[in-house]
Amino acid sequence: MEIPFNRWYPAITVRRSRRQYDPSVEVPSDVLSQLRLACQEFRPFPEARVEIISHPSKSVFRGIVGSYGKVKDAPAYLAFIGDASKPHFQEFTGYCSEGIILEATAMGLATCWVAGFFRPQAVAGDIETKSTERVLAVSPLGYSKENKTLEERLMSGLARSHQRKPLSQIVEGLPHEKWPKWVRPALEAARFAPSASNRQPWKFKVEPQAITVSTRGLSPDIVVSKRLDCGIAMLHFEVAALSQGVRGKWELLDHPQVARFGW
Ligand SMILES: Cc1cc2nc3c(=O)[nH]c(=O)nc-3n(C[C@H](O)[C@H](O)[C@H](O)COP(=O)(O)O)c2cc1C
Repeated sequence: MEIPFNRWYPAITVRRSRRQYDPSVEVPSDVLSQLRLACQEFRPFPEARVEIISHPSKSVFRGIVGSYGKVKDAPAYLAFIGDASKPHFQEFTGYCSEGIILEATAMGLATCWVAGFFRPQAVAGDIETKSTERVLAVSPLGYSKENKTLEERLMSGLARSHQRKPLSQIVEGLPHEKWPKWVRPALEAARFAPSASNRQPWKFKVEPQAITVSTRGLSPDIVVSKRLDCGIAMLHFEVAALSQGVRGKWELLDHPQVARFGW
């Protein structure tokens, strides 16, 4: 499936992590079927896939402390699965899964990446995986309450969810007067990408015919890989580039670099 950039580009600015859902509103089965089709068709890399679980068997989401910070009342969830035996599975899973998050957003559904506070055993009871596959993250799926609850606002405040680093802190290379016109909106879209604890662990280098993404920051990479976050930012970048009429190609690179977009 080609990236439906006309649907996904506006979704980049609309999407926000939502953690509390309206238990009285089920996701209609035709909406789930449409999203399931996107999960089947948007498979840019065989190493990554997304499954929809419409009738979770057990409680999948944990709180940060007890039930505090827990995702509540989600009628369904998404599981983001990568084949850990393959190189670059983290980047591929971030990229592919964010496509489904943006598709869900375009359909009016609420989501929230959750990589730290979920129960892998509960997910294992809901889906089948190969021995080399790992569920890297999940997301609740449903309709959120219109206004954020107090707990949600506290959670967003803790993660400083609305703050993003300015381009001047995350971009190097060619001076911006020399950037092609489409590069700024593409970097802005990447800057808006969600990341674990909103850490934004990416750096972009603009060169005459390429943009390289690398990881940045000293924080440890143990619980959630920065390469998963970078895969998400790569998808945002490409969606914006396509919406500006630029079609490029990613080449995956080794640590601390992540990937190079050439056009
Ligand atoms: C890979 C990844 C893992 C995340 N893990 C969690 C999590 O375990 N719990 C949670 O409440 N939010 C989690 N988040 C959501 C981030 O806190 C959120 O995306 C960030 O603060 C930016 O806010 P926004 O999504 O509203 O733009 C995660 C996000 C990403 C991308």
